[in-house]
Amino acid sequence: MLDADSDDLRSGPDLHPALLSLLPLVGTWCGEGQVGYPTIEGQHYRQEVRFAHDGRPFLAYSASAVLLGPDGDVVRRSAREVGWWRAADGDRFEVLLAHPTGIVEIYLGTAAGPTSWELSTDVVVRTQTAKEVTANHRLYGIVDGALLYAVDMAAVGQPLQPHLSARLERTSG
Ligand code: HEM
Repeated sequence: MLDADSDDLRSGPDLHPALLSLLPLVGTWCGEGQVGYPTIEGQHYRQEVRFAHDGRPFLAYSASAVLLGPDGDVVRRSAREVGWWRAADGDRFEVLLAHPTGIVEIYLGTAAGPTSWELSTDVVVRTQTAKEVTANHRLYGIVDGALLYAVDMAAVGQPLQPHLSARLERTSG
């Protein structure tokens, strides 16, 4: 079968030079996070996140999460998202994400430092039956080899505030 993407920098195609500011993200990451919002009950989740490339100036991105019970057991499947992180000018990039909940987001991103990235939604569109999400803001950073992120969300009539935070360890790439 065609190996469309590579997150193995040693044997895969060379990373496109326009993606250099996103290079530290490439690979597969796994770990746990905390979800919350004023309208829902706080819970822990486990997540796998993958950034891969095929030599062209974009990263293929996918993430999937399961919710954890109080004892750390998997309770059920939760959020998934797929999309593309596209190189733009210099340290700028553009991110397109699609969710099975009927939401599509376009973010404008900047590399805030060599291992930190900030994303703000430019546009959020949703299907007729999707929940009302109006804006999202994401911070990603690599600290001591771990990928940390925080997502703030404006949705269901609430102002922009924390929905997610997680710490993921690199499992490959
Ligand atoms: C790791 C990723 C995520 C996890 C684990 C997660 C988890 C949850 C959970 C557990 C709920 C409560 C409802 C339920 O049990 O399904 C929820 C609600 C919600 N989430 Fe997320 N979520 C994630 C990412 C996102 C993202 C990226 C968005 C927006 C694009 C989003 C938008 C919402 C909205 C709009 C609600 C409904 C709030 C309400 O109706 O009160 N979530 N999320």
